[in-house]
Amino acid sequence: MKKHRLVSLPSLREAARRDPNCPISYLKADTKPDSFLVSWGQGKIFCIRTYGCQANVRDSEIIRGFLLALGMKETDSFAEADFILFNTCAIRENAENHLYGELGQAKDAYEHKPELIIGICGCVMQEEVPVKHILDHFPFVSLIFGTNNMTSFYSLLEEVIKKNVLLVDVRSGSTAVEEGLPESKESRLSKVSAFVNIMYGCDKFCTYCIVPFTRGKERSRKVEDILSEVNCLKQEGYKQVTLLGQNVDAYGKDFGDKYAFADLLEKVALTGIPRIRFVTPYPSDFNTKVFDVMAKYPNVMPSLHLPVQSGSNAVLKRMNRRYTREQYLAIAHELRERLPDVYLTTDIIVGFPGETEADFEGTLSLCQEVKYDAAYTFIFSPRPGTPAYFMKDDTSMATKHERFDRLKDLIEKLTAEKADTAVNQDVEVLFEDVSKKDPSMITGYDRHNKLVHVKGDKSLIGQIRMVHILESHTYSLIGEVKDE
Ligand code: SAH
Ligand code: SF4
Ligand code: F3S
Repeated sequence: MKKHRLVSLPSLREAARRDPNCPISYLKADTKPDSFLVSWGQGKIFCIRTYGCQANVRDSEIIRGFLLALGMKETDSFAEADFILFNTCAIRENAENHLYGELGQAKDAYEHKPELIIGICGCVMQEEVPVKHILDHFPFVSLIFGTNNMTSFYSLLEEVIKKNVLLVDVRSGSTAVEEGLPESKESRLSKVSAFVNIMYGCDKFCTYCIVPFTRGKERSRKVEDILSEVNCLKQEGYKQVTLLGQNVDAYGKDFGDKYAFADLLEKVALTGIPRIRFVTPYPSDFNTKVFDVMAKYPNVMPSLHLPVQSGSNAVLKRMNRRYTREQYLAIAHELRERLPDVYLTTDIIVGFPGETEADFEGTLSLCQEVKYDAAYTFIFSPRPGTPAYFMKDDTSMATKHERFDRLKDLIEKLTAEKADTAVNQDVEVLFEDVSKKDPSMITGYDRHNKLVHVKGDKSLIGQIRMVHILESHTYSLIGEVKDE
């Protein structure tokens, strides 16, 4: 068993602290590897497994950039790898459990190759209990770090290699925004569509949610740093950027400007990058000035993901969502009125503690009234350390599943009805990849972010083309590319 060196492992309580007087610091990270790591990396192979949201995908790309700069190559197979990294998600229990399953498989690879370095990072590592569980049950792991110290990656890796220790370095309470991270085409997973962080962290503390603990205080990147990244991506030939933040409406709160997100969106639109998306706005902070920008700039895509979570005011209150059903509906109606072509999607949690049948029916009726174009639905998963974990919950799992199925049926019906309206229409599609299921098909997304498959070859990837839709399935459309 390896000796372990515990540099830092903060508690969730520490992670929840917010000091409103503490200013955000803007740092330029020094991310050049030293000669030791460069000679270690030559010819070595890495494998990264990523769970969770777009923020984690982007973080994995940054680490990928660090590893590629060492001359390392990438693989999908644990058996081939010299370094395996799991970038974890803590949002629901099943995301966390997935990690333990995969660690079991990594153990087999380690037994065949004892010099294999296995690291774990991401949101689960920001929680003490799982980290301690890993220390006790998975002694072959060599490196544990969190979401706030990715820029220390090279020094952590170097210490693990040189001292052959298990190193745990998790930080919380970061008030820094670090620039200078790998941003170029090589480090990114897609050569067509790129994620661009506009802010980090979340201060909302919805009572069910672990994210404010794992991602820390809200910090916005500077407008000029975001624009410079978007401009570079455009020059590199990217066709789409998705602006990322857990609560994009809070963008610029640290600069004291309540219209900052709408203004930023407009500036990104003016770069001329062909397609812009953004996730995720928060209803009560949502500023309808964003609608003006969406209406004015055709390169801001006509889709809005606005999580509602529940249609019942009592549940919304216990969730600490800071809006009512009526306020949410007012935004949805304004959107439908002003921008009838915009697709509206949402997130919904079923079976929150104390949710009654009447509360749940409120969610169903809200969905019917809004006529969502699609929705992600989840059964409440109690996250240790969050307030909802301790709330009295006397609804049986069977009832929660039954409600979940009823909601899913309704959402599928709404989604399918909307998808049907695309048949025989021409839609504009950005092609991104070869279909995983059928290599003769190329997949892309229409302006509403609906998945579209066409027969074709790889040369379509990166092109924006008109497609005539022939068939609709609930979650995808099938069509044929129209001649230019
Ligand atoms: N920042 C975004 C997304 C956060 S996580 C937002 O505020 O909307 C994505 C979704 O996961 C949430 O919208 C919520 O629907 C769901 N989620 C978060 N915590 C959960 C939990 N404990 N159990 C079930 N679903 C959860
Ligand atoms: Fe979680 Fe709420 Fe923050 Fe979204 S806004 S990340 S649901 S705490
Ligand atoms: Fe998961 Fe962390 Fe994202 S908990 S959803 S990876 S912010």
